[in-house]
Amino acid sequence: MTTQDQINDYWTGRAPSYAAYQLQPDRLADDIAAWSRVWAGALPPAPLDVLDVGTGSGQVAAILAGLGHRVTGIDLAPGMLEQARSSYGNVDFRLGDAVEPDFPEAGLDAVTGRYVMWTLRDPEAAVKNWIRLLRPGGTVAVVDSTWFPNGPQDFYDPSVWQSLPLAQATDINQTAAVLSRAGLADVTVTPLTAIYELDEKYGVAPGHEVQMQYLITGRA
Ligand SMILES: C[S@@+](CC[C@H](N)C(=O)[O-])C[C@H]1O[C@@H](n2cnc3c(N)ncnc32)[C@H](O)[C@@H]1O
Repeated sequence: MTTQDQINDYWTGRAPSYAAYQLQPDRLADDIAAWSRVWAGALPPAPLDVLDVGTGSGQVAAILAGLGHRVTGIDLAPGMLEQARSSYGNVDFRLGDAVEPDFPEAGLDAVTGRYVMWTLRDPEAAVKNWIRLLRPGGTVAVVDSTWFPNGPQDFYDPSVWQSLPLAQATDINQTAAVLSRAGLADVTVTPLTAIYELDEKYGVAPGHEVQMQYLITGRA
């Protein structure tokens, strides 16, 4: 079984509880409002052709569609896609690899991904491939944090997480550097203070601690 197979199995197993966590009624409206502001600020005005990689249970893709973008969400965990499709009808969800997305070159305006960089088997190769899919001037916008300085021990076997270049990141600039090395221009890191305040109020997903999350953007 490959590293990627193990990652896919993990997320398919966790998909029902992951989706349920994101759909909690007590926080849903605040989450959607805050994240809509983040993604509206991260991208040029709609309508854009957007690919959301590692889309999981689909919340980011659905928010982007709600902002007026034409969105495709890809993930390699069938269980996550099942959750996404059952929750959101306004997005085209497909089985697909974030590291090697199979889409026509120069056909997109933006590639997005939340909480995905840390779990990619080759994040730099992934960003290089995203750049090929973007039209000139297109945007990569990712959100992540330094969630697991000691490794994501509650998620994967050490043999898996020790092979992931960003799984043990201790500084968000390690993630930003991957975007720059892959060839993006104007790489910018923005702390998401409104999301931090939301996390302090409502808590974060199991296996995580409240930490500053960052929006990292770059231009193709
Ligand atoms: C922490 S979840 C984030 C889900 C979603 N982006 C969100 O913000 O809730 C990470 C997701 O990345 C997916 N993933 C990991 N490696 C992937 C790859 N190479 N290609 C596509 N999806 C991948 C997992 O299946 C999982 O759904």
